Amino acid sequence: MTYAIQVAYLLSTALFIFSLHWLSDPKSARRGVFAGVAAMLVAVAATWAMPGISRHLWIVIPILLAVGPGVWLSLVPLTAVPQRTALSHAFGGLAAGLVGTAKYFFWFNEPGSPSLTSFRMVAIVAEIILGYLTFTGSLIAAGKLQEIKWIPQRPWVYKGQNFVNLGAFALAIVLGVLLILSPAERWSPLVFIVIIILALNFGWMLVMPIGGADMPTVISILNSYAGLSAVAMGFVLDNKLLITAGALDGSSGLILSIIMCRAMNRSFVNVLFGAFGQVQQTAAAGSDKVYKPETVEGAAQIMEQANLVVVVPGYGMAVAQAQHKVRELYDQLKKRGITVKFAIHPVAGRMPGHMNVLLAEAEIPYTDLVEMDEINPDMPQADVCLVIGANDVVNPAARSDKGSPIYGMPIIDADRAKTVFAIKRSKNPGFAGIDNELYFSDRTWMLFGDAKNVVGELVKQFSSGGGIH
Ligand code: TAP
Repeated sequence: MTYAIQVAYLLSTALFIFSLHWLSDPKSARRGVFAGVAAMLVAVAATWAMPGISRHLWIVIPILLAVGPGVWLSLVPLTAVPQRTALSHAFGGLAAGLVGTAKYFFWFNEPGSPSLTSFRMVAIVAEIILGYLTFTGSLIAAGKLQEIKWIPQRPWVYKGQNFVNLGAFALAIVLGVLLILSPAERWSPLVFIVIIILALNFGWMLVMPIGGADMPTVISILNSYAGLSAVAMGFVLDNKLLITAGALDGSSGLILSIIMCRAMNRSFVNVLFGAFGQVQQTAAAGSDKVYKPETVEGAAQIMEQANLVVVVPGYGMAVAQAQHKVRELYDQLKKRGITVKFAIHPVAGRMPGHMNVLLAEAEIPYTDLVEMDEINPDMPQADVCLVIGANDVVNPAARSDKGSPIYGMPIIDADRAKTVFAIKRSKNPGFAGIDNELYFSDRTWMLFGDAKNVVGELVKQFSSGGGIH
């Protein structure tokens, strides 16, 4: 039986590795998902079949209780996937923290505590620090992504913040070392509990100073922390599959964080220690600034004269599910011999590749999707830039306003196009919670309304020829 379990673990590890490999290419991504699901099923079944576990039939009860919320969480709309992912990291971190806590107290209560070896204590301390900080950090990240009112989108900063945060972390490490050296003293459980409190606090303090726009990088680093806590848990439970699966999770999260940091022009060290919210002063609210509204008829007439139209899709297109109407508009423009390109920002929407997925769903040719770095040199030649529910990714403050929370983030240079039409419903800011000078520029005209309706109206103008000559 034990031999069969080891073979099943090996199979599961191989499937996890293939899953990651296949997930890195859109053509094989679906296969990657199935391989990951199969790996997890094999892992759970093999663990359950282990001698000493299989006889505890009551385990069925918590599994059944977890199925309901699990299915409910899987049914969230595509736009809510990042916060759902953050919640998964939170629960993963909490599970690791609780397992470490249970194991420590179980072994502590054995006469003489012989099981609390130094090696195990290193693993337990790593597991609880990483697990509990991932728990509260991920909860705050999920709250920011869900735009919960009492969790500010803007970086929450105060003087001496880095000192307090790093101080709490350093204290947890010092106490951890103390615990590793003396795990079974009368006072040791108290130190253990203080470490848990410090880790729980450090987690939320780590994420609060990070602005909404930088959440993608935070999610991937929390992914990595959750994976590392699973590695530590694997050492505590002496479970090789947990060690390999956690290491795959931790390292892929780390690699994704580095890629995201490069794309967002953020310092990796700052993300790692949660300190990149040093905002001096953000731009004042644009209450006295004037938007210039335009009608769809007027916009359609100008678009019809264009040689090059660059569409910048954003989160609003996803919310409105406007991609199919966008496809119809694309067809109408192409019919008139107009070149249409889609400018894709690496963090437009709410998850990596969000815009690519939506535009592919509407069967817009992949060749007309252009990455940010490639399209920016062509922006001054664009006769019209049509911004559809994008905001932060076209905010020029990222280039010029040193006090802005998005300063330094690369953007699509929509403001350099000859004419800009921006579709959004209101004067509300984007995800980072800041004003966007693009909307007040001389070249920009606003098409207020839901993206699907406005693009639908534009299509009608073209298909009926109404107002267009
Ligand atoms: P945002 O900055 O979030 O702006 C979206 C705009 O769409 C808003 O200004 C909103 O204005 C408008 N909108 C919402 N619903 C709409 C609808 N039904 N019809 C028309 N407009 C609508 O979007 P973005 O420019 O794509 O930037 C993405 C932001 O999310 C970045 O800050 C990024 O860092 C962050 N983020 C990205 C990811 C990834 S990995 N992509 C993950 C998490 C966070 P109104 O309310 O006025 O309509």
